[in-house]
Amino acid sequence: MTYDRPSDTRRVSVLVTRRLPGDAVRRLEQTVAVDLWEGDDAIPRSELLARVHGVAAIVSTINERVDTEVLDAAGPALRVVSNVAVGYDNIDIAACNDRGIVVGHTPGVLTETTAELTIALIFATSRRLLEAADAARSGAWTSWGPTWMCGHDLKGATLGLVGFGAIGQAVARRAHALEMHVIHHDPARESMSLDELLEIADVVSLHCPLTPATRALIGAPQLARMKRSAILINTARGPLVDQDALVSALRSGEIWAAGLDVTMVEPIPVDDPLLELSNCIVLPHIGSASVATRAAMASLAIDNAVAALGGHRPRHAVNTDAVQPGPGPA
Ligand code: DGY
Repeated sequence: MTYDRPSDTRRVSVLVTRRLPGDAVRRLEQTVAVDLWEGDDAIPRSELLARVHGVAAIVSTINERVDTEVLDAAGPALRVVSNVAVGYDNIDIAACNDRGIVVGHTPGVLTETTAELTIALIFATSRRLLEAADAARSGAWTSWGPTWMCGHDLKGATLGLVGFGAIGQAVARRAHALEMHVIHHDPARESMSLDELLEIADVVSLHCPLTPATRALIGAPQLARMKRSAILINTARGPLVDQDALVSALRSGEIWAAGLDVTMVEPIPVDDPLLELSNCIVLPHIGSASVATRAAMASLAIDNAVAALGGHRPRHAVNTDAVQPGPGPA
């Protein structure tokens, strides 16, 4: 894709908070002045606050909290925050609405990749893959044992999806191929209650956005409803789960295992009790981490930013009802 120049003729500047795969940033540089954070790690808060001053767009990742402090530091030139993620709980949407700032995100392109990782975690937890591999490596494998390292079959098991949007549905398609029964709970759709799902499901997998209503959606009372043989999977957002309650439930055997790609604090502190539990697998938020998908996310995020800068409605914006950037799709 080639881009129109932004609607005003001044050379606008865009802060890109992380090196991105593919040629998206290079394409962006053809039309606007790009300030790219080149660090290997996420941009430090102080750098972010210093560098946003006067920019017209921020291309952000989930590492950056884009709150009123950042928006104030940016000033009135800021027209768009484009997140390289489908989730946007790191951005203060209400504050962006108040200031007429468009917020872009990247749904669609990461759906199948995230669903694949969800299935990987279901396999890994149900058949204890990490524990078993560790046993092979450490010498704990002394002989084949009839009851040793046994897990649970997926065929015939019930998968309870909490959230039945694009990713939940992509997980459901794969689960059907594994001959699992699939049920779901989603307040936006006709579905069973969460309590009912928790009581029935052998695997509970979370696929809802993090909002005030879903924070700590799975806490001690919800874990207590689950089967003792049940597995909890979270590839959505860490704060959906009360992590202290989860540690207790895993320790006491109230539930059987958990597979988490996301945690309350990221990166998870290395002394977190979750990391000591053999029935818990923690991954470092890699749900969308395939080469092709990350390039597609980068490309879409840049396209969203450029569209908004050009006065057009981006292909994927969170708040175009509240903020009208322009005439229609670029
Ligand atoms: C998202 O897109 O929201 C993921 O969490 C990062 O890929």
